[in-house]
Amino acid sequence: MPGIRYVYAPPVASVRDEPFDRLERFYDAVPRDGAHTEDFGGLVLFVRDGAGWPFYARPRLDATEPPSAADISAVRQRQRDLGLPEAFEWVHDNNPELLAVARSAGLSVLEAPLMVLDPTALPPAAELGGPAVRILDPAAPGFAADVAVRRAVAAVGFAAPGTEIGAAGSAARDAALVELPVDSLDEERARTATGRRISALVEMPGEGAVASGMALRVDDVAEIAGIATLPSARRRGLGAAVTAALARRLLDDGTNLIFLSAGSEEIARVYLRVGFRRIGTACIAEPAPAAL
Ligand SMILES: CC(C)(COP(=O)(O)OP(=O)(O)OC[C@H]1O[C@@H](n2cnc3c(N)ncnc32)[C@H](O)[C@@H]1OP(=O)(O)O)[C@@H](O)C(=O)NCCC(=O)NCCS
Repeated sequence: MPGIRYVYAPPVASVRDEPFDRLERFYDAVPRDGAHTEDFGGLVLFVRDGAGWPFYARPRLDATEPPSAADISAVRQRQRDLGLPEAFEWVHDNNPELLAVARSAGLSVLEAPLMVLDPTALPPAAELGGPAVRILDPAAPGFAADVAVRRAVAAVGFAAPGTEIGAAGSAARDAALVELPVDSLDEERARTATGRRISALVEMPGEGAVASGMALRVDDVAEIAGIATLPSARRRGLGAAVTAALARRLLDDGTNLIFLSAGSEEIARVYLRVGFRRIGTACIAEPAPAAL
């Protein structure tokens, strides 16, 4: 109506569902460990300090206006200037208006099932069957090699998206092995030693490491991420076993909100079987491919 200005009222903790509020604070806290921030209207861009996987932009926790298409364009320009991927992430349930804005600004948005663990539904290890899952020990002499293997398994696993069995196996994993830069390894060791990161591997006789995953933790909230199984070892229950072992360790460590975003509905089934339940949608956005 003319004369009436739309005033954005960001959800406040007292009226927002508690898990969503805790998730929002978690997503805002995780990158701050290794990045500085730049604000663009309703968005904050996390710029990593030093080497490592680049971060994304997401809605600012303390924004007084919802992110606009102009904010998205300004962030994309800055990401291009810095040589970063034009990446955005947010929880749809916390910022429902952003999906349409992002699409209108030329982004392609993956709507990933956002799932939270129901601890009473986590099956005991014996019930899942399957192999032992090894949680990596930052004080062990083999830690550097273990981390390199975890990354190689993830690289081969994510290069074959979906849940289908494929040809790539141990040889592909070994070909993907890269020695970690010292600062990257030091960071990984420090985070693991303080419980902010937990890494897991499954090794099979004659095959070596075939599945891997990790968890990122801030206080009593944790995200399980990077679950991957070599294509040759899929459909044997290994992805479920790694997820369950990480969840069990997190619960033992006192984490009481454990969540993940599943890359698709079919992947969500793997997590459903170990006690995760869908509570919402995580949005992951990048530039839409140019029309032919
Ligand atoms: C998603 C992923 C980790 C699953 O790994 P996985 O080890 O194959 O997972 P599981 O074996 O536990 O479950 C996969 C399927 O095998 C089935 N399965 C499990 N054990 C089985 C067995 N012994 N015999 C036959 N089928 C079995 C499961 O029921 C499930 O079937 P469904 O697709 O019908 O639900 C793997 O496909 C992958 O690495 N994908 C690419 C990376 C990725 O997207 N990761 C997830 C990011 S969120």
